[in-house]
Amino acid sequence: MTSANCAPVQVALGRRYYFSASHRLHSSELSEEENCRIYGKCNNPYGHGHNYILEATVTGPVNPATGMIANLAELDAFVEREVLDAFDHKSLNEDVEAFREKVPTTEYLCIEIYRRLKAFPAAKLLRIRVEETSNNSFEYSGEPDRQVGQREGTKP
Ligand code: NI
Repeated sequence: MTSANCAPVQVALGRRYYFSASHRLHSSELSEEENCRIYGKCNNPYGHGHNYILEATVTGPVNPATGMIANLAELDAFVEREVLDAFDHKSLNEDVEAFREKVPTTEYLCIEIYRRLKAFPAAKLLRIRVEETSNNSFEYSGEPDRQVGQREGTKP
């Protein structure tokens, strides 16, 4: 796919991963009343769980010898080590250092996962997408103005 006259072909590769975790939406910057009003039942002191779907998209040149951007086994091992081992069947508030102080909304979850995966050595991390429920999904591409999403608890 390469020649002396043109750059290697860039292709994006998306791979899906699954993890289950609990969280409680509670901001230390808000009063008890505000937390209750803003987060509703998601502010329940005992938390609740989600079956999250994570899609990590990487991009890079297609290696002319292998026909691939990156070896999926390498990506899987990296995501497992950096994200799944840390988040799966865990309390995001209690078990993940980043959420001791920061409210574990899926917006912040995307940013934290992006931070953990951007060091993937074999390709460039393009985007993180997290589905919190079948109605809510969030994306982060490393630039604050590119986050999109819908608040949990709103109508589909
Ligand atoms: Ni939730």
